[in-house]
Amino acid sequence: MQHIKQARLSNKALMPSPGFGTWQLRGQQCTRAVKEALQVGYRHIDTAEVYENEKAVGQGIQDFPREQLFLTSKVFHGNLREKSVLAACSASLQRLGTNYLDLYLIHWPDMSVPLAETLRAMKSLRSSDKIRAFGVSNFTIAHLREALQQCDDSLPLCCNQVELHVGLWQKELVDFCKEQGIAVTAYSPLGRATILPDPTIRKIAQRRGCSPAQVCLAWLMHHGSVPLPKASSMGHMKENLEASQIALDETDMQALDALGNCERIIDPGFAEFDKV
Ligand SMILES: NC(=O)c1ccc[n+]([C@@H]2O[C@H](COP(=O)([O-])OP(=O)(O)OC[C@H]3O[C@@H](n4cnc5c(N)ncnc54)[C@H](OP(=O)(O)O)[C@@H]3O)[C@@H](O)[C@H]2O)c1
Repeated sequence: MQHIKQARLSNKALMPSPGFGTWQLRGQQCTRAVKEALQVGYRHIDTAEVYENEKAVGQGIQDFPREQLFLTSKVFHGNLREKSVLAACSASLQRLGTNYLDLYLIHWPDMSVPLAETLRAMKSLRSSDKIRAFGVSNFTIAHLREALQQCDDSLPLCCNQVELHVGLWQKELVDFCKEQGIAVTAYSPLGRATILPDPTIRKIAQRRGCSPAQVCLAWLMHHGSVPLPKASSMGHMKENLEASQIALDETDMQALDALGNCERIIDPGFAEFDKV
């Protein structure tokens, strides 16, 4: 697949880039979108128990060779007790119609539950081959430091999935992940389409002969992260996949880096983004 790149995770597995985001796709629309995404060339699908679409995603992937697919799901923050993680993972696997996940993420940190307890469950899922890699989402550097102290070779911390786009350039966090060998997957990589009208992005798109969405995704890939754009139409899916072919130069990158000081789009009341 010429448009698919691969990121190496610390468990040695390869993560196809870009991935396909499925939040807010439900039912038949979700199944159709997942099938179309696979048809146009995506090999990495991102879902979560809280998206309430795992069954629909499962139907979308059922005729596709499982070993050619990278599948991520996430355990929600109300389910981080040991028994709950084990039950949540089994339920996700059942809904998805698969016997393993390539990557299983703690969706949101919840410091009221001892991380050691959640990690015990993750180790057990890892040793029973229900998950191939373990990661986190919405973790700050402070959360990551705590997690790294408790992870080891039996359970490397492979990934942090965070909001990352031209409007929110979390450079310090991305640099920290790089230093620690933690892959960064970028959620809402198009800023949920709100950043696409930005004049700087449009100017670069015009000069490069591509779309504003492709500029945003190419910027993320040039910074070494794996974007997870969601799209409902095949036109958008293809366009986003082809962003891996867009070359940006140093001037483009600097101009785009300078835009990234806006506020978060995703900031629910239970987030722990102020943890230092
Ligand atoms: N870990 C977390 O806490 C977390 C949080 C949020 C999201 N995520 C993951 O990240 C994925 C992506 O994030 P997101 O869904 O929030 O937002 P996004 O991917 O940044 O943006 C999706 C929006 O952009 C539009 N779009 C897609 N391709 C386009 C193109 N080429 N040109 C113009 N518009 C385009 C889509 O429209 P159409 O649908 O009409 O194509 C949709 O309205 C999610 O689906 C989910 O898997 C994770």
